[in-house]
Amino acid sequence: MLLPKIIAIDGPVASGKTAVGRQLAHRVGYRFVDTGMMYRACTYLALRQGVDIGDSEGLASLAATTAMDIVVTSQGERLLANGEDVTIHLRTPQVQACVSDVAKVQGVRVAMVVQQQHMAEAGEVVMVGRDIGTKVLPNAGKVYLDASVEERVRRRLAEAFGRETEAGVRANIDLRDRIDMEREESPLRVADDAVVVETDALDVEGVVSAVIVALGGKA
Ligand code: CDP
Repeated sequence: MLLPKIIAIDGPVASGKTAVGRQLAHRVGYRFVDTGMMYRACTYLALRQGVDIGDSEGLASLAATTAMDIVVTSQGERLLANGEDVTIHLRTPQVQACVSDVAKVQGVRVAMVVQQQHMAEAGEVVMVGRDIGTKVLPNAGKVYLDASVEERVRRRLAEAFGRETEAGVRANIDLRDRIDMEREESPLRVADDAVVVETDALDVEGVVSAVIVALGGKA
């Protein structure tokens, strides 16, 4: 069986969505869209422009007036916000601390979802996030990646190269998971027809193969 032309990958913080989605897209020749970058960019712009993180209207109007594009260059995926490359600002501790509060604002989500649906219009796309299967691309082939909190803490600590403490990483994962799962607008949950892939015991290659098989392809 052929793989679906549109593939949605959702899952909690540090479940491997980005690494897996990128490699899967590369393997099957699809476009890769990491929607987390878009919510991070909204957060970075809000912090830079002094929009209060509790000001839903201010955040919604910022999101509604920001055209996002994700382009792939020799330096990997770059996020352009109204044409400005803001990629280096997306993973700072400040953005990390506020992004889930920005992403729970309905007006922010509406503005991002429209742009994400537009990005997927041409098909042959792997899109990763929290609500891709449940909201953004309901007709996609759907996968939900999961892993234990312990494993997800280990992965994020390894990426932090000593810049963060285990307690800090764990606290941010717990906080964002809770906000992402409990928010009113498109909370993180497993879509009814999604295949759940448990990734604790698998490396990225292993997860990609498991995802391809789950979607009906040959690993
Ligand atoms: O890579 P990591 O799992 O740490 O996070 P991310 O995918 O870059 O997403 C950052 C944050 O954006 C998440 O914690 C969510 O609050 C939000 N997000 C969302 O609400 N919906 C999406 N489709 C993607 C991200």
